[in-house]
Amino acid sequence: MSALTTEVENGIAVVTFDLPGEPVNKLSDAVKVEFEALLIGLRDDSSIRGAVLISGKPDSFIAGADIEEFTALTTEIAAERLSFEGQEMVSRVETLPTPVVAAIHGACLGAGLELALACHYRVATDHRKTQLGLPEVQLGLIPGAGGCQRLPRLIGVRAALDMILTGRSERGAKALRLGLVDELVPPSILRATALAAADRLARDGAPRRQPTGGLRGFLLERTATGRRMVYRAAEKQVRAKSSGHYPAPLRALEAVRIGLEQGITAGLAAEHRFFGELAVGEVSRKLVQVFFATTALKKDDGIPPGSAVPRQIRRLGVVGAGFMGAGIAGTAALNVEVDTRLKDADLERVGKGLNTVGGILGERLKRRRLTRPQFERLSALVSGGTDYRGFGRADLVIEAVFEDLALKRRVLAEVEAVTRPDAIFASNTSTIPIRDIAAEATRPERVLGMHFFSPVEKMPLVEVIPTEATAPEAVVTAVRFGRRMGKTVIVVADHPGFWVNRILSPYLNEAAMLVAEGVPVALIDRTMTNWGFPVGPVALLDEVGLDVAQKAGGVMHVAFGDRLRPPETLTRLIGDGRLGRKNGRGFYRYRDGHKAGVDDSIHALLGVRPVSDADVAVIERRLVYAMLNEAAMALDEGAVRSPRDGDVGALFGIGFPAFRGGPLRAIDDLIPSRVVEVLRDLADVHGPRFTPAADLADMAVHGRRFYPA
Ligand code: NAI
Repeated sequence: MSALTTEVENGIAVVTFDLPGEPVNKLSDAVKVEFEALLIGLRDDSSIRGAVLISGKPDSFIAGADIEEFTALTTEIAAERLSFEGQEMVSRVETLPTPVVAAIHGACLGAGLELALACHYRVATDHRKTQLGLPEVQLGLIPGAGGCQRLPRLIGVRAALDMILTGRSERGAKALRLGLVDELVPPSILRATALAAADRLARDGAPRRQPTGGLRGFLLERTATGRRMVYRAAEKQVRAKSSGHYPAPLRALEAVRIGLEQGITAGLAAEHRFFGELAVGEVSRKLVQVFFATTALKKDDGIPPGSAVPRQIRRLGVVGAGFMGAGIAGTAALNVEVDTRLKDADLERVGKGLNTVGGILGERLKRRRLTRPQFERLSALVSGGTDYRGFGRADLVIEAVFEDLALKRRVLAEVEAVTRPDAIFASNTSTIPIRDIAAEATRPERVLGMHFFSPVEKMPLVEVIPTEATAPEAVVTAVRFGRRMGKTVIVVADHPGFWVNRILSPYLNEAAMLVAEGVPVALIDRTMTNWGFPVGPVALLDEVGLDVAQKAGGVMHVAFGDRLRPPETLTRLIGDGRLGRKNGRGFYRYRDGHKAGVDDSIHALLGVRPVSDADVAVIERRLVYAMLNEAAMALDEGAVRSPRDGDVGALFGIGFPAFRGGPLRAIDDLIPSRVVEVLRDLADVHGPRFTPAADLADMAVHGRRFYPA
């Protein structure tokens, strides 16, 4: 079956791309062959005056190249050829004698955007599903079909670098402002507008484009000195962000620079050369694996397929309008557009919660992700009060009251008394077993955990925690709802710390121990950011809040005994009135909410002398291996269902370095037998907490891995 169909209207060929059997359009080898034939047909048919390229899919123009094909590439030369052929095809569109108009609705990403860039005119819809971007760097690649050349020529080098180096995509309105598209229309008139544009172009020729950016843009973009400044600033930013672990953004910058300074032919050559080199590199391989893992997870509802149908959530109830409750309500309003009722103990707190919701939506308004009417409408979805009014109609209630078992049980009983029998109750507890909360429930089959991370609107993960009694329908409903909130969802067991806090616990303990031994805080944190974490463990303790971390650490200690015994460090700091960032005093100092350096007085407080000769390799091993060992142990105990879920959870829950693929993938790469050896060495020096997990020792003996080689 062919992916492309052509109808001719008034001398304009309307080419519809609709890849059979796939939810989205992708550019695969087979599609490219079809495209090539079509382009020759268009070129040779003198009755054709112009063409429109449009998609037959509801949500995608072209979502990108077929990534499966990348994984089959084994040599740099083959990868380079793939990129070169993409460039050739795209160039043939650009050099057609008749104008081609791209009619863009839905995802227009990667190679899809590169193809659109080679068209002579672009019309996009103003629908929120319309997204234009070059996300290649997120897969450790660079745009390899001319994107590094055509984007800066169209929208200016600064704006282009901003998109290419971050991989961020833009909605239609922003794309119009940037000059990335020529017209913005509602979906209903996309086709007609594109046809009219093709007709106009056929008669009057291509439009002259206004260079963007004003005088400042002129000075920076059109002079060699100005551009040098732009390149330098971009490079600095990339280096600061990637701490040297991700080669793709620097390569992309280089491909853009060569193209602009030496001409497009040199630029294209650099582009396919770099693409080839990156596509078979370790970092890209890992990021592609992560991409497949998250894609597979999006289709996994955490229950045996077909065993239950998700309920539709028309109304959400949230109990507790504090930090987490308000974040949940705001994110649900924003992404699910669901009618939400927020309940707290007194009106002052309700008001504060509603303000937080307003802040989350307001932030989007400010960044022009929402229009004023959208903002007003979404704001009106959330209301609040001190009683359970409105909860009678709730399909799902999420509880985020104080972390107190008796209170949570009471809230569950109150909610059960006022909601429909089929309503689902989810607790956002971070440390209390869900089965304890559900112990006195009248409908335990409808109780589970939905563990969000803070801040809810930013953190991309949710852990869904069923108990033995939870019905599959409740699980699939929670999973789907979390996903609609924009989160990656993993289903985890009702074990202490669930998954994320479980593997975090020994890591944070170890960091606190290092501090107590006098190892400089800045060195500890720098060691782990150099390893690839976005923040170091000590800074993370300050972020989480020392009281919260202490409480969680205590729970883990009770559950797992000596191995997870937290050191006295936090108790001492809390005793000195330090709670971390939230009260402006922790391991670090804070000025106006910003970190202002390590607070050296903690050494006196802890009664240690700072050591000046700490060994970075040892710090790294102690921290990293504490987490890896725990991950292996927790997986073996069934805390998560699979290495895939565990790794994705670590990436999205704690920012485990993506280029390492996750803790379990990292163990495979380090080789389990070697990991066991290192752990045994650590145990000899630092104590039995480093004793290798039983399963890890078994893997070492039998040469097993978590993932197929
Ligand atoms: P918070 O103290 O900001 O908010 C709790 C809110 O619950 C307060 O506004 C309080 O007035 C309200 N509340 C207490 N009793 C109530 C009742 N009977 N009815 C209605 N509202 C009541 O606390 P936060 O940080 O939002 O935490 C809430 C829950 O989320 C806790 O279980 C916590 O363990 C969990 N959690 C917290 C995370 C964090 O980083 N803060 C992360 C993940 C989970």
